[in-house]
Order: sequence, then structure tokens, then C-alpha cells
Amino acid sequence: MLYIKTYGCQMNVYDSARMADVLAPLGYAQTATPEAADLIILNTCHIREKAAEKVYSELGRLRALKEARAAGGQETMIAVAGCVAQAEGEEMARRAPVIDILVGPQSYHRLPELIATVRRAGGQALETEFPVESKFDHLPDSAAETGVTAFLTVQEGCDKFCTFCVVPYTRGAETSRPPEAVVAEAKRLVGSGVREITLLGQNVNAYHGEDARGQVWSLGRLIRHLAEIAGLERLRYTTSHPRDMDDDLIGAHRDVPALMPFLHLPVQSGSDAVLAAMNRRHTVLDYRRLVDRLRDARPDLALSSDFIVGFPGETDADFAATLTLVEEVGFFQAFSFKYSRRPGTPASILAKQVSEPVKTKRLAELQALLLHQQQAFNESTVGRTLPVLFQSPGRLAGQLGGRTPYLQPVHVPGDPALIGTVQPVTIAAARANSLVGRLAGHSREAP
Ligand code: 5AD
Ligand code: SF4
Repeated sequence: MLYIKTYGCQMNVYDSARMADVLAPLGYAQTATPEAADLIILNTCHIREKAAEKVYSELGRLRALKEARAAGGQETMIAVAGCVAQAEGEEMARRAPVIDILVGPQSYHRLPELIATVRRAGGQALETEFPVESKFDHLPDSAAETGVTAFLTVQEGCDKFCTFCVVPYTRGAETSRPPEAVVAEAKRLVGSGVREITLLGQNVNAYHGEDARGQVWSLGRLIRHLAEIAGLERLRYTTSHPRDMDDDLIGAHRDVPALMPFLHLPVQSGSDAVLAAMNRRHTVLDYRRLVDRLRDARPDLALSSDFIVGFPGETDADFAATLTLVEEVGFFQAFSFKYSRRPGTPASILAKQVSEPVKTKRLAELQALLLHQQQAFNESTVGRTLPVLFQSPGRLAGQLGGRTPYLQPVHVPGDPALIGTVQPVTIAAARANSLVGRLAGHSREAP
């Protein structure tokens, strides 16, 4: 049995699923409880917080589990995957002998081989090099999807080197999967019932996949092509960098109805001084102009973002500029973080680090504003009729769960046969984190 604990981003969620796929032919079925597992994978994330420390404390618990299982004659293999394994692999192997396998994100296709090595030879197997060949060439297609929505990785890595960020070091340079492979996987997903695909990449709009004829496809071209797949109702992509938002992609927001009017476009700060120190390579005005162009193309576009508060040198005035930007762009949701020092990144050694209490205060203020805007946006949809993709049974009996084009969760009374279809839903009320609606044309009393 296989138990995978996933930390961090969507990319890691996707990678965990792919690891499970690679291991399925070896007879590993997934379990939800580590106690039942003979292979445990911690798929780690390095981007924020004290990632390594969290992994060490989890490993402490797993060591006890491993010993208990060994006392009962059962073997347990422990693997650490993901960006922490990549960045701190050798030190981890030394500090935590309980680890059998360390594997970086570029090497998941080698897991079966690493397991065999450990079985044969004992000791630890480390695989955290960046191989020259792409990992995409080696992974099997993901196992049959049963869901209505799926993620599809098209791009990995980052060349942007924001001064706070570890991704360029842990995930390596930007690489793109060939368009033919993406289209084939998308068709297979749609064939198995998927109706919405989210294209994934650390810098997904830096996509430049080369086809067999040597032509390079932009993300815009890829989206236009994927939108032709019969049965594929919705497309999304995440995460984007403002610098890579080209005319073709902006045009796709105007021309491709399947491309949903929701965009996660991190800006990080509303102050030019902070953006420059972050090496974001765009100004506040660049970002605002970009938003204007996007909204010209798709007037109902809902924008989401990432923000860091308390970046080294951030003044009260810089922070106030972030609040202004949040209001003026009208972000309808966002992720916001206190700046955290990541060893090895340029910002970690900058003077003028902001004190913890200041960071806490700024974060609370920003989050209060964002929450207010999110609620206002949700309220603004009450009374409107929106297309909803039904994805699952709802929390209550007789209910379905779905998403609006703006990714808002909505609960609707309805027949489970509607799962996998898009239906017009009249929004009746906004709750804290979701909407309640009824199928358009149905009265409130109808089932
Ligand atoms: N400190 C705080 N937030 C960070 N992020 C990335 N690195 C750091 C860091 N060192 C945030 C950024 C990024 C998101 C995925 O995580 O906002 O967009
Ligand atoms: Fe990190 Fe910046 Fe690359 Fe995003 S664009 S992954 S924040 S370096």
C-alpha cells in the first residue's frame, strides 16, 4: 500500500498523482492511512515557511511508525520527494537516516528503480540531479481520471529569479511539454469524462512548446487548439507572470469562450520600489495597463493575485500603495503571505528586514481588505444566472456542488445525473466561502 502526504502547491498535488501512477504497475494501491502503508512518500514544498522543519517533525513520527511496523514484521519504506528533497537532499539524508529514498521533482519516473535499489542494496537512494532529458518523456499518462475537472502540467520551472523565491533553484529552468503530448493527454482526459482542464506550470504563460515540425507554440495557440476538443467545456491556466502575458494569450481571452474569465496573475506588491527590489521586472503601471488590456478583451474577467507583505525595506507608504492597488484593480480574491527568508535567495541577506509584528499587522490589514472585496464580489453575483459546471454531490443530500466561471463554489439542489454538465444557475445567496443557487427555470420549491 502507498501513502502520499502532499504539501504546497497544485503542481505538487499533480506530481503526487503522477507518482501514484508510476507506482501503480508495481502493485502499490493508495491508502489514506500511513499505518497501512509499506511505502510512504512525503511530497514536500519549499516555497514558504519552515518547510524543512515540518518535514523533520513528520519524519520523527514516521520513524516511530516504521519501528512499530518492524516489530510486527512489516517493512516500511520512506521517501521524501519534492522541492525540499531537491534543495536539501544531502543534508536530510544525513540528518534523518529513517529516509530510504530522496527524489527531486525531475526524477519521479525513476521511483520504481530507486525502490528496487533500496530493496536490493539497503541504505539510502538519492536522486536529486536535474537530468538532461525531460521527465515528461518518461512518465506514463496519468491513470484513468474519474473527475469532472483535471490538472494538466504543460510547463515547469522558472527563469524569473524574483529575489524572494526558491523556485528557480529547486525547479530549474523553464521547460515546456511538446504540444502534441499535451493535446493527446487532454483528449484522453476528456474521453474519460473530464469537462474542465486547468493547464499548470510555475510560469504557465511562459509556455513555448516545440512541435514535431520545430514550430514553437505559445500558450495562446495551445489554448485555441485545446478549445476545439469536443466535450471540453472549460479551460483555465495557472500560474502566470505578468511579463509573459502576450497579445496572443490576451486575444484568447476575447476569442475563446471555453477560456474562463478568471485569471490568477500575481503582482506581489503595489510599490514600484518593492517590485524593483523583488526583481519582478514590471512596474505598478505595467501591471495596471496589462489589466486594462485583459479587461478590454474580456470585460467580466475576475482577477486573483499573490501578495507578499513585509518584504525587506517595505515602508508604511509602500504597503499603503499595495492596499490602493488591491482596491483599484478590484481583485476578487488573493493569497497573501508574510515575507519569509529563504536561505540562498538574494532577499534573505538584504538589510532592513521588516519586524515580525509589523508583518503581522500588515498581513491582517491586507487580508481584511481582500476578504471584504471577495464578499462584495460574491454578493454581486446574487440574482444573476451563471453557467455552473457540476462536479460532485453537494454536502447535503439532494445537493450538487459546482463552480461558476469565476471559480466560486456553488451548491444547488439537483439530480446527480447533472454531474459533468454545465447548467444555468440563478444565484440565490452568498455564504462566506460559497454561493447557493437553483437551476434556472426551477422554482425554489422544486426538487
Ligand atoms: N516569502 C513569502 N511569500 C513567498 N512566496 C514565494 N516565496 C515567498 C517568500 N520567500 C509567495 C509568492 C508567490 C507564492 C506562490 O508564494 O507570493 O507568488
Ligand atoms: Fe518564484 Fe518569481 Fe518564478 Fe514566481 S516568477 S516562481 S515568484 S521566481
